[in-house]
Amino acid sequence: MESKTSILITCLIFATAFQLLLPLSEASGRGSELKVGYYKDKCQKAESIVTSTVSSYVKSYPGLGGGLIRMFFHDCFVRGCDASVLLDPTPENNQTEKLAIPNFPSLRGFEVIDAAKAELEKECKGVVSCADIIALAARDASYLLGNIFYKIPTGRLDGRVSNSTEALLNLPPPFFNLTQLEALFATKGLNAFDLVALSGAHSIGRSHCSSFTSRLYPTIDPTMDQNFGASLRKLCPDPKNATNDGVVPQDFVTPDKLDEQYYKNVESLTALFFSDWSLLTSSETSKQVDTYTKEPETFKQDFANAMVKMGNIEVLTGPPGEVRGPTCRFVN
Ligand code: HEM
Ligand SMILES: *[C@@H]1O[C@H](CO)[C@@H](O)[C@H](O)[C@H]1NC(C)=O
Ligand SMILES: *[C@@H]1O[C@H](CO)[C@@H](O)[C@H](O)[C@H]1NC(C)=O
Ligand SMILES: *[C@@H]1O[C@H](CO)[C@@H](O)[C@H](O)[C@H]1NC(C)=O
Ligand SMILES: *[C@@H]1O[C@H](CO)[C@@H](O)[C@H](O)[C@H]1NC(C)=O
Repeated sequence: MESKTSILITCLIFATAFQLLLPLSEASGRGSELKVGYYKDKCQKAESIVTSTVSSYVKSYPGLGGGLIRMFFHDCFVRGCDASVLLDPTPENNQTEKLAIPNFPSLRGFEVIDAAKAELEKECKGVVSCADIIALAARDASYLLGNIFYKIPTGRLDGRVSNSTEALLNLPPPFFNLTQLEALFATKGLNAFDLVALSGAHSIGRSHCSSFTSRLYPTIDPTMDQNFGASLRKLCPDPKNATNDGVVPQDFVTPDKLDEQYYKNVESLTALFFSDWSLLTSSETSKQVDTYTKEPETFKQDFANAMVKMGNIEVLTGPPGEVRGPTCRFVN
């Protein structure tokens, strides 16, 4: 009898403690309402429609896979993962994020999102958000180009605001040093570990010459391998002379493979950006770079986890969020 009472009391204490703790942990974790398989009972084919669309584009144009992974990053870092990066300029708002320097004209893959959205609207009108389409497309691109497989929670809503100045202020330029990169990532709830893991995305896709010619002229940056610099000069003339802005692969060794080669390039001073090189400037981050060169599977796992984490940044799960439609280019 006595023990029954004490068990009851213990249970009551635990239950009360949980009731107190639960709302706290929910409130502290933005994005806690997202869940894997959110569309299962709302639009059963949602994820498979995105996957087949992304797959058909990326198989023909692998570069678009890089575009989609970068799009996810650029969406999540500006006002959270809310598809604000997809909004076209209108007479009311002629300076949307996609026109900002970090996005224009380099950001690509918009046609893939348009195609997926069109299919999804046919299948289940007004159900699947554009923010989730970006997150799923980036996941699928990671699988197609890197054989990196992960599940990503969904249930994001789309935002109604897009401001080019915010894109400029919240996206890192390629000349940032490690201190600056870490500080910016910290404002998004990401740490140096996430920064190093996510930077592996520079193992695919391309860069315009203008993103790194300051490291080539008037002299080749001493933080860059001098032979690599000389070969880049042949592909990218001095901007003082150049008429057009060419492109080069991020990774000359395995340009369409999302793999650990990026970290080898960083170590051999043959990555394109000063920001890439800067990962070598703390013992913590340079050790992580070195680990990835030796343990490709560790990289894949960490990259996947960091993509999911990035996908939780400041997500909208209620008003003023909406499921944008019929296209991702305009608010409702
Ligand atoms: C750490 C700070 C970062 C900086 C400074 C940075 C900067 C850049 C720059 C300047 C370009 C070239 C754009 C061009 O000229 O065409 C680029 C390309 C790219 N970035 Fe980053 N980036 C960073 C982090 C990331 C992250 C976190 C991801 C994704 C997880 C990412 C994914 C990509 C991809 C895939 C490309 C190639 C895009 C394409 O081929 O269209 N980057 N980045
Ligand atoms: C954008 O709109 C503002 C205010 O409506 C206007 O002053 C400006 O000229 C417009 N800019 C462009 C590039 O159309
Ligand atoms: C865009 O963002 C900038 C920087 O936060 C802000 O100063 C500006 O007022 C915003 N523009 C609009 C139209 O809201
Ligand atoms: C990075 O740049 C900032 C701003 O220019 C500077 O204050 C800081 O000392 C630099 N950090 C390193 C590690 O070079
Ligand atoms: C511009 O191009 C000319 C001829 O191609 C070359 O001789 C000159 O060195 C270039 N100038 C710069 C600043 O690179």
